[in-house]
Amino acid sequence: MTKPDPKTFAVKSYGCQMNVYDGERMAELLAAEGLRAAGEGEAADLVVLNTCHIREKATEKVYSEIGRLKRPDGSRPMVAVAGCVAQAEGAEIARRARVDVVVGPQAYHNLPALVAKAAKDGLALDTGMPAASKFGALPARRRVAPSAFLTVQEGCDKFCTYCVVPYTRGAEVSRPWAAIVDEAKALADAGAREITLLGQNVNAWRDDKRGLHDLIEAIALIPVIARIRYTTSHPNDMTDGLIAAHRDVAKLMPYLHLPVQAGSDRVLKAMNRSHSAASYLKILDKVRAARPDIALSGDFIVGFPGETGAEFEETLKLVDEVRYAQAFSFKYSPRPGTPAADMADQVAPELMDARLQRLQARLNAHQAEFNAATVGRRTEVLVERQGRKPGQMLGKSPWLQSVHFETDARIGDIVEVGIAAAGPNSLSGVERVSVAA
Ligand code: SAH
Ligand code: SF4
Ligand code: F3S
Repeated sequence: MTKPDPKTFAVKSYGCQMNVYDGERMAELLAAEGLRAAGEGEAADLVVLNTCHIREKATEKVYSEIGRLKRPDGSRPMVAVAGCVAQAEGAEIARRARVDVVVGPQAYHNLPALVAKAAKDGLALDTGMPAASKFGALPARRRVAPSAFLTVQEGCDKFCTYCVVPYTRGAEVSRPWAAIVDEAKALADAGAREITLLGQNVNAWRDDKRGLHDLIEAIALIPVIARIRYTTSHPNDMTDGLIAAHRDVAKLMPYLHLPVQAGSDRVLKAMNRSHSAASYLKILDKVRAARPDIALSGDFIVGFPGETGAEFEETLKLVDEVRYAQAFSFKYSPRPGTPAADMADQVAPELMDARLQRLQARLNAHQAEFNAATVGRRTEVLVERQGRKPGQMLGKSPWLQSVHFETDARIGDIVEVGIAAAGPNSLSGVERVSVAA
């Protein structure tokens, strides 16, 4: 059955920052085909759900979201499922829900063609992992927010035993140097002041003999780019060169997200993390020596199969030692097809709940402590958007804290702010002098 071609679209991204980046690129791709982004509250003809498969809840969200897309008159938009659920479940999605397009993270440059095909003959599916990269087939970047994402590396070869990413995103691939530097320049021309380099294992990025720190140095040479960040890193790829960049490259922000997952070496081994608690802490010592004010962030999983109470205590011990500025913690979620899902001794949900609560209380306390320590300091804030109150703007400190303050500054300005007060999740400040326009 032929349906009318969609005229408007909406892209909704879930999961990690790489999905946010992919969502932006899909929106640019559809706009280049002449579709218009639906306004706030406007029903779009085509809805792209850019999905995450990392935990069971994330996956279930997709199906309930598809159900909610049905309009009061019973009609429904065209639905394209993209992202990691598309890759993991493929045609199975169409058996569980009414969808028109299923497209994986390595194939979304084909989205317009798939939409056209679906309008003509029903379901269109592409979960291929083509040898030629999708990036070459994407349109140029035109207008971006002051803080922009740039994917430099995709996929993962680490195969942590709980994780779906190596299956949904494929093997580790680094984009070539020149393509990344060109895209960074295009982002600068399109309004970016800050670039966050992204990868599932971003610090595994390589091009010939060059590593991530070389790329950071090259991007630091672009005059309008004032700030550089990167995420997510794996402890095993934290090279001395990258650590030194935190000392030597002024534009590299003092923030490092370095997931550890657990504090017990037995659990880390069962997770196939290939680092120990001690080797992880040693890396952090080196990073702190290079950049003493660095804000550290991490990811944690509680209730990995077989985790005992005593082993969980080792996670708390590590957390107390590091005192993270920010952190993300999750209950272990068994994922189909991963080795840990078949391990004996799955931990009872009530135990996981209790452990997560204790861990989060500790992490929140440390975060509040870190924020409180910035009160009274002057710092530069990159203005990213309007605040809730009139005249109020919101931005980020170098340590990735949200800061709100009253100002005449515009979005994209970097302003010197005195930090007046700290809450658990944000800071309030008073503008000092505008240091850059
Ligand atoms: N490549 C990154 C991030 C991967 S996904 C890394 O290795 O750190 C982000 C986080 O989700 C992981 O760090 C982990 O803490 C969490 N996660 C991944 N799989 C999970 C699972 N099956 N259950 C619970 N949390 C999980
Ligand atoms: Fe998943 Fe581990 Fe790869 Fe991170 S390093 S994406 S947790 S398999
Ligand atoms: Fe989720 Fe895929 Fe990112 S599973 S966390 S969207 S790589």
